[in-house]
Amino acid sequence: MVSAQTIVEEISEVKQRRRAVILAHHYQDAEIQDIADSVGDSLELARAAQKFEGDVIAFCGVRFMAETAKVLNPDRTVVLPDIHAGCSLVDSCPVGGVRAFRRRHPDHVIVSYINTSVEVKAESDILCTSRNAVQVVNSIPAEKPILFLPDINLGNYVKKQTGRKNMQIWQGACIVHATFPGRRLAAARVEHPDALVAAHPECPSDVLRMADFIGSTSAIIDWCTKQAAQEFIVMTESGVRYSLEKLSPGKKFYFVANENCNCSECPYMKMNSLEKLLACLDNLEPSIELPPEIMERARLPLERMLAVK
Ligand code: 13P
Ligand code: SF4
Repeated sequence: MVSAQTIVEEISEVKQRRRAVILAHHYQDAEIQDIADSVGDSLELARAAQKFEGDVIAFCGVRFMAETAKVLNPDRTVVLPDIHAGCSLVDSCPVGGVRAFRRRHPDHVIVSYINTSVEVKAESDILCTSRNAVQVVNSIPAEKPILFLPDINLGNYVKKQTGRKNMQIWQGACIVHATFPGRRLAAARVEHPDALVAAHPECPSDVLRMADFIGSTSAIIDWCTKQAAQEFIVMTESGVRYSLEKLSPGKKFYFVANENCNCSECPYMKMNSLEKLLACLDNLEPSIELPPEIMERARLPLERMLAVK
């Protein structure tokens, strides 16, 4: 068997040869994060893809993130170590339903979470991530009716934060975050009475009500790092443990298992591996191939989002 160290050395060599950059989401395994040029949440990685000037992006995340990088770099090669790395939110929102909504409600502004297919993005007016969803909705004139899709928990959170009345919300959910049970968090708080609670806004409302902080993946990491507290219950994917412990050695981080896998891992994010990363850089496949006219239409709502401060 080839050692991990040998694979890492081969990745470095082929990365230079390909003039490639490796972008990795915080939910990737530690060994992938270690070799990445940038590690971030979905907004930070989209911004890194926007600035990129080489030939190849190897995207260690899930397919919708790699598609976003491709829309921003239509003439470059974007590879994803495992092409089957999907997302339950993307699956919950077929483009036909979005088109039907648009026909019935032509006056609505469609705000799409970045966790959507490129076809749904192309039907949208503006995109958002968990980091900027409140600012994106606040950037829309108050009298405009909104359809927010596809995450019901993020949508409800944003509706509450912005006080928007006329906002319809799609019924999609993340298989990881939406199945964190409030009663397990309540039990964890009894077990760790000094711990603060940080939660991703894709979590259900009973979990969010118990949170001391709600934010995107990187916002959770930043917040836990800055707090004087020494213990945290972290209601998101357990891949963030790596950065949390690196940035705050000595602090304790507890994760709560969900009811889907009885763990806190995203099965799609974990499909990638060092071996698959090396293979995709070497072979330039699997690569993201999208129809040019769809990319063209998806770029506008994406750029509108990136322009929101
Ligand atoms: P972030 O926007 O926090 O990176 O979240 C992406 C995601 O897929 C959460 O499950
Ligand atoms: Fe999608 Fe949930 Fe996995 Fe994030 S954690 S990629 S929202 S399935």
